[in-house]
Formats: sequence, structure tokens, C-alpha cells
Amino acid sequence: MIAVMGASGNTGRVVAETLLARGEKVRAIARHVDRLAPLARAGAEVAAGDAGDVSFLTRAFTGAEAAYTLIPPDLKASPFRAYQDRLGEATARALRDTRVRRVVLLSSVGADLPSGTGPIAGLHAQEARLRELGGDALFLRAGYFFENLFSSLPLVRSQGINGGALAPDVKLAMIASRDVGAAAAAALAGRDFSGVTVRELLGPRDLTMAEVTRVLGKAIGKPDLAYVQFPYEAFAAALAQAGLSKDLAGQYAEMVRGFNEGRIRTVAPRSPASTTPTTFESFAEALAAAYRAA
Ligand SMILES: NC(=O)c1ccc[n+]([C@@H]2O[C@H](COP(=O)([O-])OP(=O)(O)OC[C@H]3O[C@@H](n4cnc5c(N)ncnc54)[C@H](OP(=O)(O)O)[C@@H]3O)[C@@H](O)[C@H]2O)c1
Repeated sequence: MIAVMGASGNTGRVVAETLLARGEKVRAIARHVDRLAPLARAGAEVAAGDAGDVSFLTRAFTGAEAAYTLIPPDLKASPFRAYQDRLGEATARALRDTRVRRVVLLSSVGADLPSGTGPIAGLHAQEARLRELGGDALFLRAGYFFENLFSSLPLVRSQGINGGALAPDVKLAMIASRDVGAAAAAALAGRDFSGVTVRELLGPRDLTMAEVTRVLGKAIGKPDLAYVQFPYEAFAAALAQAGLSKDLAGQYAEMVRGFNEGRIRTVAPRSPASTTPTTFESFAEALAAAYRAA
């Protein structure tokens, strides 16, 4: 049996669905049972509870030969790092106590750095905790999710621009989260990683916000859609206004500065193993559908 954390989320849902389709036994983990119902119908066992609760996670991992793990975001957490540490420690402890043999961690580009990367620093710490367990661990360091663009749609709608603190011409590895889930499922089903392995997942090619905005504009019938770069302070204030904790809003600003200044970057040259299939052009259809639906 393979335990899957975040099984109703972007990546975990794809991990669970893909494993079930391959005939694997899956235990789907998240807090809300209703959101796990489609996986239960597809044959998954459901474990509903909070990943900050070690005894829950210990039950959820018991009997698992492998696990897909992540630190789910809580946008209101403050300080965000204390929240990440609490869930990360609970996960590591439950994995240790249940002796799960193989563990995949959803990590991020930039997790090679201990600090100065905003929320990514919490994933650096989680990689360190899982290294200490001494088992077989695969750290999937994913690029910037295409899904992040969903949060730009209200701005596009209300102001007729796309914007953020990323510089328009900085090239970033950007990826569809479904490709992250597919890579994790393939590794778990293949049972083919041993020791500690770091693998970057980078999307089909690097993209700039200027290019992303052009593709998005075309998809929503606004070919002249412009990208506007905001100062870091204004960006953090807008995130706090949208409901994020002030602390997390500031951390995101730090992360974006890390991308703009070239500190957060990939550690290995792009390769077939780090290149994933879904293009932003095809993903933009989902963004356009959401834009039209609102
Ligand atoms: N966005 C990016 O560009 C990017 C890039 C690289 C890495 N990442 C990493 O990706 C991770 C998020 O992955 P994702 O996008 O697949 O997740 P997601 O779509 O945000 O889904 C979160 C999942 O975790 C569950 N969950 C939330 N809080 C929980 C809790 N306290 N206890 C148990 N389950 C909980 C949710 O279901 P319930 O709400 O029902 O519990 C849901 O299934 C983060 O660690 C982030 O750092 C993101």
C-alpha cells in the first residue's frame, strides 16, 4: 500500500489517481472526507485527519510500503515557518515510527538553499529531516506551478492587466502540477529510487512572465494584455489584502526577490528527466475557462 498525503490537492490527487489506475493499493490522506470521495469510489482507502497530528499520521502511514509527502500550504499561518516545521516534524516522526521504506517529498527549486527563499526554506528543512531518516528518499524539486496564475485572474478581470513582483523578463522553470503528480506516481510505482535522490522537475521550457502574459492574453481574447511589475512592498500588501497572513505575504516577496536576483535557480542543466510534457499554451485553456466562468 502507498500512502498519499494531500490526496485531494493539485499533485496528490494525480498521484493517487495514477497509482490506483496502475492497480496499486492507495491510502488517501487529507482533512476533508468529502473531497476524498472520488478517490474512495475509485478504490482508495481514506484516512482523514490533520498532518500536524503525529498520532493521526502514524496511523495513516502504518502498513505503507511507500509514501508521497508534502507540506500543505496554510495561507493564514503565522509565522509560516513555525507551521511548516510543525507539520514537517510530525511527518518525519510518523515516517520514522512506521518505518515506511520509500518516501517521495514534494520540494521546490531553491530548496538547495537554507534561507533567503521565503517558504522554500521550509522545504530545505524538510529535505534535511527526511535525509536523517536514512531510508530511500526522492526529493522532487518542482518549478513554479502554472496553477499560480489562477490567482492573477481577478487582477486581469478588474484592472485589465497581469501583474506581480516577478520581473517581466526573468526566465523561470514553470510546470503543470499534474506533471509533478505524474512523476511522483511513476517513481512510487517503479520502486526504483534508493538512497537520497534529488530530481528537478522543470516543465517543458523556461518562461518569463512577459511570455506567460502574452499566452494568457491570447487565450482569453485580450492579445494586448500587459504584465506590470509591482514593488515588493505593494505585492506583499496585496497578498495580505487577499487574506494571506502578513508573515507569509512577506515570505512570498522574499521568494520572488530570490527569483529576480537569480539566487533561486536550478542546480542541474535541463535534461529529459527534468523536462515535463504539459505546455503553458495548453494549460492556458484551463485559465481561460476559469476566466470566462467567473
Ligand atoms: N505553487 C508552486 O509554485 C509550488 C512549486 C513547488 C513546490 N510547491 C509545494 O507544493 C506543496 C503544495 O502541494 P499541492 O499544490 O499539491 O497542494 P494543494 O493543492 O495546496 O493541496 C493541499 C492538500 O493537502 C490537504 N491538506 C491541507 N492542509 C492539511 C492538513 N493540515 N492536514 C492534512 N492535509 C491537509 C488538502 O486537503 P484538505 O484541505 O481537505 O486537508 C489538499 O489535499 C507545498 O509544499 C508547496 O511548497 C509549490
